[in-house]
Amino acid sequence: MDSGAQNRGQWGSKLGFILAAAGSAIGLGNIWRFPATAGQNGGGAFVAVYLASIVIICFAVMIAELALGRNTQRNPVGVYKKLAPGSSWKYFGVLGVLTGWGISSFYSVVAGWTLGYIYKTATGAFSNASPQQISQIFGDFVSNPVSAIGFHAAFMVITMLILFGGVKSGIERWSKILMPVLLVILILLVIRSVTLPGAEKGLAFLLQPKWDELTGRGVLAAVGQAFFSLSLGMGTMITYGSYLSRKENLFESAAWVCTLDTLIALLAGLAIFPALFTIPGLEPTIGAGLIFVVLPNIFNKIFLGGLFGTGFFILLAIAAVTSLISIVEVPVAYFVDELKWSRKKAVWVGGLGAFIVGIPAALSLGAVGWLSSVMTIEGRNYGFLDLMNLLFGQYSLIIGSLGVALFVGWRWGVSSINKEIEQGHPGYRHQALYGFLIRFLSPIIIAGLLIYLLIDPNAFA
Ligand code: PFF
Repeated sequence: MDSGAQNRGQWGSKLGFILAAAGSAIGLGNIWRFPATAGQNGGGAFVAVYLASIVIICFAVMIAELALGRNTQRNPVGVYKKLAPGSSWKYFGVLGVLTGWGISSFYSVVAGWTLGYIYKTATGAFSNASPQQISQIFGDFVSNPVSAIGFHAAFMVITMLILFGGVKSGIERWSKILMPVLLVILILLVIRSVTLPGAEKGLAFLLQPKWDELTGRGVLAAVGQAFFSLSLGMGTMITYGSYLSRKENLFESAAWVCTLDTLIALLAGLAIFPALFTIPGLEPTIGAGLIFVVLPNIFNKIFLGGLFGTGFFILLAIAAVTSLISIVEVPVAYFVDELKWSRKKAVWVGGLGAFIVGIPAALSLGAVGWLSSVMTIEGRNYGFLDLMNLLFGQYSLIIGSLGVALFVGWRWGVSSINKEIEQGHPGYRHQALYGFLIRFLSPIIIAGLLIYLLIDPNAFA
């Protein structure tokens, strides 16, 4: 093992790794961001592009990230420094570390809302409230600076406490317990939702593509959502791969993570849209507030709704914490490997840094006027949180994933990665297909999207 690898730890078992990586992938991205973005982009057609991106692009990029991490035993910056010393490739790694902070800036804030909503649903804050009152409660809650920052801080503290425990005893142990709980609660919610009278409308919205409603912007959003959801493009899977043993089969691990993540996103869609369409006057296009404004309405109208509501927000908080630890772990691994800090110091700085960047995001939902409207694109208002979501949650990840595909396909080389994949995968025979995917198909599609963005600036938002 090289020097950077010594104090890094390894996953205790194959299942532990898959659950931890799936724990990273499954989070607010699946349950909050996927339905909201699908709802804004026409439903079925968006979902079809999202699913196609996972199969055509993301699976190959995930294997590439895991292989880079396992081969070098390094963080995202260290990977490029080791495999391409003295080159500029390392800036893709630096972008990843910065993106870690950029994403945590809004992620922890929204995750904090879930904590507040566990309390609100459990104490019956929404029971018998009208749709207007429910929107008002959400507005008051997110625009109150004390609760916005307080819950953001609380969530970051939970995340840091888990991270102090380190890779094996921290991330893996929690994921092992929390992920199966999440699946069970979600399945219960889906059963409730799809058996409501009138649920067919929501099912059709989610599953029947209306291609004429899909815009170029929607395609970008769908591809970006696939990267976000699978934790690709900022080095999370590089970092998690660096804790992975050479005995493990990368194809199989990536396939498990992609499948579980997609399953949870679809289940979240199935839990939300059928119920949504049974309430007159509610629209799927409302965006970031979808879950927080609409779901309490729905829980109010169903038998044992308070219980389902509380369960749902517990589920969301669980999913968010197993993801946020993986986001903050990227800067932490960078500090441990590159700056030779102790894990403790790295977690303090990584967590506090993420908390501080998150403060303006927490205050951008009404608490501080100018943060609530930092930019207007095509008549649509962007607060600080929305802007961070767009820049780091979408564009940064698309650029980072292009970096990974180009680096593996053209610099590290197809034969090097195929050799890495062969370890732990006896009888591996897809060298040519994998080479085609990572060298040509993924970079061409991703670069094509970015060029489209440059040509049509309206596609930006
Ligand atoms: N995949 C996580 C989610 O769906 O909530 C979010 C995320 C984690 C994005 C790690 C990016 C990342 F590197």
